[in-house]
Amino acid sequence: MAVSTLSAASVRALPQRCRICGTEAEAAPVAICERCLGPLEPLYPAARLLPDRATIKAREPSLWRYREWLPFEGAPVHSLDTGFTPLVEAPRLAHRLGVARAWIKNDTVSHPSLSFKDRVVAIAINAAHAFGLGTLGCASTGNLANAVAAQAVRAGLEAWIFVPEDLEPEKILATAVYAPHLVRIRGHYDDVNRLCAQLADRFGWGIVNVNLRGYYGEGSKTMAFEITEQLGWRLPTAVVAPMAGGSLVTKLRKGFREFREAGLVEGDDPRLYGAQAAGCAPIVRLIERGEGGIVPEVPATIARSIAIGNPADGPFAAKAITDSGGWAEAVTDEELVEGIRILAETTGIFAETAGGVTVAAALALATRGHFGPNDEVVLCITGHGLKTTEAVRDVLAEAPVIAARVKEVAALVGSRGGAP
Ligand SMILES: Cc1ncc(COP(=O)(O)O)c(C=O)c1O
Ligand SMILES: [Zn+2]
Repeated sequence: MAVSTLSAASVRALPQRCRICGTEAEAAPVAICERCLGPLEPLYPAARLLPDRATIKAREPSLWRYREWLPFEGAPVHSLDTGFTPLVEAPRLAHRLGVARAWIKNDTVSHPSLSFKDRVVAIAINAAHAFGLGTLGCASTGNLANAVAAQAVRAGLEAWIFVPEDLEPEKILATAVYAPHLVRIRGHYDDVNRLCAQLADRFGWGIVNVNLRGYYGEGSKTMAFEITEQLGWRLPTAVVAPMAGGSLVTKLRKGFREFREAGLVEGDDPRLYGAQAAGCAPIVRLIERGEGGIVPEVPATIARSIAIGNPADGPFAAKAITDSGGWAEAVTDEELVEGIRILAETTGIFAETAGGVTVAAALALATRGHFGPNDEVVLCITGHGLKTTEAVRDVLAEAPVIAARVKEVAALVGSRGGAP
């Protein structure tokens, strides 16, 4: 896709349809069905022409190489460089999990803001453009704030960003640096989200995870598309992913299914495994109970990026996971810190708390017998470790301070078992 062929007027958003009652709605910055209040999602033309593997392979290495499965007609105009992060094989982690092979889908290096939220914002910002909205906004646990601020500023859009008061300083800083309107709200994410639902209508903003949510969510499918292509057009047998609002796991299931239905890949859909912190695990608890709805929780965990007590897509996430034959696991804050260290020490990838949750949950699932020796497992590692340095600061060994003398280094080498 050549950038030079794009024109500002060329992107049009698709109409939407209610996921509950099927009512159709014309393309608009609206995310809720007017008949039943169910969530809307894009409605793709049934007879659209789909590309084959070779056509996809020849395209730019971004998430737009899968544009036929993204909710637009015409060419996108913003954030053309997001997506296609590395899939990294992790043999030492595979060994610890007792599986045949394991990979990290490494969205710690997502462009431009170092988390998978770049994917959903890349879609939402083009929806905002299609609707002629000049202001982008979000309710965020941190990563979405970073992604909206970075992508809005370079598109020349205003940004209004609302976060819980107690976010990690790195998440605040990596938002504030782009000079958006950043507002800290006294309360938890669920309070912030409720506020933003009222703001979207009142100010006519494109709030990416509120009134643009139907479009936004489709960006998460690209993680499934990339995993499939990067494995050489094969499906893994299992995928482990962190859950906050529950959108990512829901859309992973949809993405794998869409590629199978398009004939791009064969085989069984992967079993999906969801990971949450024990201090905020409403989706895990729903899966464990096996019935009823989400019971909202008040978050109490250092994994703030995934601390959503009343997840909007919780019931869909639980269904996606159980339909796939997978399961979900909650881990303590101590376990998630250990998960960050294990990932770093076995793969050279430094993840934020949500990544630690994912690794720790995968290890717990392995211990409980959810994986077998023939499994090929992908762990979705969704945000960079420099965003949550406090999580590991106190558990890492302090570096010694010595004089600039060979003798002192020799003493150190000797004390660590090397030849002095
Ligand atoms: C790093 C990270 N991973 C995973 C998630 C979970 O995403 P979802 O809300 O789609 O479940 C989030 C959400 O904020 C996140 O910040
Ligand atoms: Zn409906």
